[in-house]
Amino acid sequence: MSGRPFIRLADRTDLDGFADHIVRHSAESGREGSLHFAISRSPERASVREHARQRWERALEESLWGRCFLLVEPVRGWVVGHLELRGGRFSAEMHRAILGMGIERGYTRKGHGQQLMEAAIGWAKRTGKVAWIDLGVFEHNLPARSLYQRMGFVENGKRKDAFRIDSGMQVTDISMSLRIG
Ligand SMILES: CC(C)(COP(=O)(O)OP(=O)(O)OC[C@H]1O[C@@H](n2cnc3c(N)ncnc32)[C@H](O)[C@@H]1OP(=O)(O)O)[C@@H](O)C(=O)NCCC(=O)NCCS
Repeated sequence: MSGRPFIRLADRTDLDGFADHIVRHSAESGREGSLHFAISRSPERASVREHARQRWERALEESLWGRCFLLVEPVRGWVVGHLELRGGRFSAEMHRAILGMGIERGYTRKGHGQQLMEAAIGWAKRTGKVAWIDLGVFEHNLPARSLYQRMGFVENGKRKDAFRIDSGMQVTDISMSLRIG
């Protein structure tokens, strides 16, 4: 089997592939010409898997639900990209979802980021439950900011020194939102 990577909604059978992808992808942050894009370069695989399991099992009426769109490489069946929406923390925040995404280096700049966004935004609209999608992006991550702007996200503001990564590198974080409801 060969062909272009495809996108599908994750289920519990994807937990191992998702966790492997997050570990591989996070390790690329700030390495071999990639920008720093992650808070940690070495997340613990078991914890990534367990927290995803908990989020994906929650109903959309529960706080802290998660729904994840996967970019799957068809030859090996590996997950090579993801976009996850996570629900609000409190009942008063259930109309908002937080977006996180990442694509492994060999698969960027081929339009998959935009396709993941379109799949997730379309899904969120169809639920009728999500009015806003929020995200945070490092100020220096111009490829990601460019994609978010193209998809209609608007900047809310910045937090200087939001994170200290890689032994002290200070990162400004930009908050962006998209109104869909
Ligand atoms: C940010 C990220 C998700 C963007 O995904 P992507 O798949 O590269 O995005 P797209 O291909 O849809 O668009 C990105 C660029 O590639 C260009 N592009 C799209 N199709 C292309 C193609 N076939 N050939 C060349 N370039 C192409 C787009 O025009 C766009 O260019 P721009 O810089 O002028 O905006 C991805 O780079 C990534 O995962 N980076 C590391 C992790 C990260 O930063 N995550 C976000 C944290 S907030």
